[in-house]
Amino acid sequence: MGNQYNIRNFVIIAHIDHGKSTLADRLLELTHTIPKEKMKAQYLDMMDLERERGITIKMQPVRMLYEHSQNQKPKIIVSKTKVFEKLENQKENKELYILNLIDTPGHVDFSYEVSRSLAAVEGAILLVDATKGIQAQTIANLELAKKQNLVIIPAVNKIDSPQAKTEETKTELANLLNIKKEDVFLISAKYGANIEKLLQAVIEKIPCPHTKFGVGACPSNFVEGGFRALIFDSKYDLYKGVIACVRVFDGETKVGEKIYLLAAETEGEVKELGYFAPTLSSQKALRAGEIGYIATGIKTPGKVRVGDTIIKLKINDVEPLSGYKEPKPMVFASIYPEDQNDYDLLKDALSKLKLNDASLVFEPESREFLGRGFRSGFLGTLHAEIVSERLKREFGLSLVISTPSVLYKIINENAQEIFVKSASDWPQATQIKEIREPWARLEIITPAGYLGKTMEVLENIRGKYRETKYLSQERILLVYEVPLREIMSGFYAQLKSQTQGFASMNYEVLDWRPANLVKLEILIAGRKEEVLSKIVSRNLANLEGKKMVERLKEIVPSQLFSVALQAMVENQIIARETIKARRRDVIAPLYGGDYSRKRKLLERQKRGKKELKAKGVIRLPPDVFLKMFSQ
Ligand code: GTP
Repeated sequence: MGNQYNIRNFVIIAHIDHGKSTLADRLLELTHTIPKEKMKAQYLDMMDLERERGITIKMQPVRMLYEHSQNQKPKIIVSKTKVFEKLENQKENKELYILNLIDTPGHVDFSYEVSRSLAAVEGAILLVDATKGIQAQTIANLELAKKQNLVIIPAVNKIDSPQAKTEETKTELANLLNIKKEDVFLISAKYGANIEKLLQAVIEKIPCPHTKFGVGACPSNFVEGGFRALIFDSKYDLYKGVIACVRVFDGETKVGEKIYLLAAETEGEVKELGYFAPTLSSQKALRAGEIGYIATGIKTPGKVRVGDTIIKLKINDVEPLSGYKEPKPMVFASIYPEDQNDYDLLKDALSKLKLNDASLVFEPESREFLGRGFRSGFLGTLHAEIVSERLKREFGLSLVISTPSVLYKIINENAQEIFVKSASDWPQATQIKEIREPWARLEIITPAGYLGKTMEVLENIRGKYRETKYLSQERILLVYEVPLREIMSGFYAQLKSQTQGFASMNYEVLDWRPANLVKLEILIAGRKEEVLSKIVSRNLANLEGKKMVERLKEIVPSQLFSVALQAMVENQIIARETIKARRRDVIAPLYGGDYSRKRKLLERQKRGKKELKAKGVIRLPPDVFLKMFSQ
């Protein structure tokens, strides 16, 4: 089955909930890839977490077979409640096609993975929900697909829904792609309307795989030349070691051959290879144009990385396939085990997760009150959230996770650049010459009726307006530039609530720009609590400091003496609250009139408090730190 003419490699680009998994289910059924009795909804979303949240986090490749004749003319009848689909000329000129579908994650945080799966295919179905219209992230993913020269097949989904705005969505798509409205497919993934027609378009419109050397050509059995395969995902198997999911671009490889990973500079051996059926189906060889897996024999986590190129060992002068990029985490958060005995478990769990998630990075750190943990880097806040949930769920860990913050660049007095991931690494004000922070291009799609509300939210984060585009008469695309920090702190939730959930957003990190930031420090009873310090905008430092000491006043239990809660910036106190002393009623047991005794007791108590205060002994339960740290 090495005939490249009959292979089609494709992805489905869709926003979360627009029906990608449901469409994949229909394709699996139509091609009889999964026996009907085994079919369950959203078959390709294999992780529990994905099923529960109903979102696709990791892509699950699948290879399907379909008999098709280029002359077939599907006859489509769509009625409001029921949809029928018939094929005429069923038996003529049929040929068997291999259809490799890679399911891509739809969220912005995973755009690096999206770009890798796009590099592994020749075409994409662009799926848009008729009840929601085009979303900001869909446009961003479409741009990535265009960069890879993919053939785009646009489809409007959920046309069966009473809320469907099918015509409007069709117009939006046609405008966006600069094509005729008739070229947009109208489908219902749920009820199977027009799915076969769409599948046939995949065969007819998407080109067969070609090598980067022989552009345009589809050699019938291309096996010569050096072997090159692109890794677009990897999994860890207890018995087989690291399994790479690959797209072969040139040549072929067989079981037992020695291989070499170009970016990782690591040797391996093909222990096993094959296709995704969607479970691993072992084969003898993988050839140019095909998508499959290679059990690499490599045991070290982190060596098999998305975007790397596999070649055969001892072949010199091989160019890596385009686009290996070290994923750059821009958002950082600290993760600590609630029980310090779980530290090694946490370390092990993070290493295992990293296997399937090239963009996750972590390094050990330790802090007073929290003990030993890890400072971890993520692509964005959703990524951080998913990793922490997987740690809790799949490894049974109880964790304390800090509020995520972005990466800062500081130019010090010696003109050196320092990257700062947390407030505790922030240099003294006197050592700072310049501070820079990442800025992002923010794209928002909002209904015209919510334009005012959307602009208000944007003004709050001091966004710089760039442009406006009308997708249709009712929906507007707004482009702004904003500090990444502002998007991280609850911006999306605010935008959603102001627009009743109608606005969607996407961002892309642009560059580093000068920033006016300071380290806000907190003192409890005169003692600096480093865990509580954070980086804030200088203009907002007073407000933020006030908020923090007020919050602390609520959660720090009162002591036998009064406790000062202070916020400080560059050695100046900018806000203060006091927790009044809790009076232990030392004289209650004494009733009656022995006043001298009472006075004596009160005086002794006063002395005791003074001593405690002098020693700075203030008993704070650890949950004070947990509450402030992870709020
Ligand atoms: P992610 O995995 O999060 O990216 O979502 P998805 O794009 O895979 O969406 P999914 O297939 O999980 O569908 C989301 C919801 O839309 C589910 O409740 C589906 O049943 C529903 N849905 C999908 N296709 C259709 C359709 O054609 N019509 C209707 N009415 N509902 C649909």
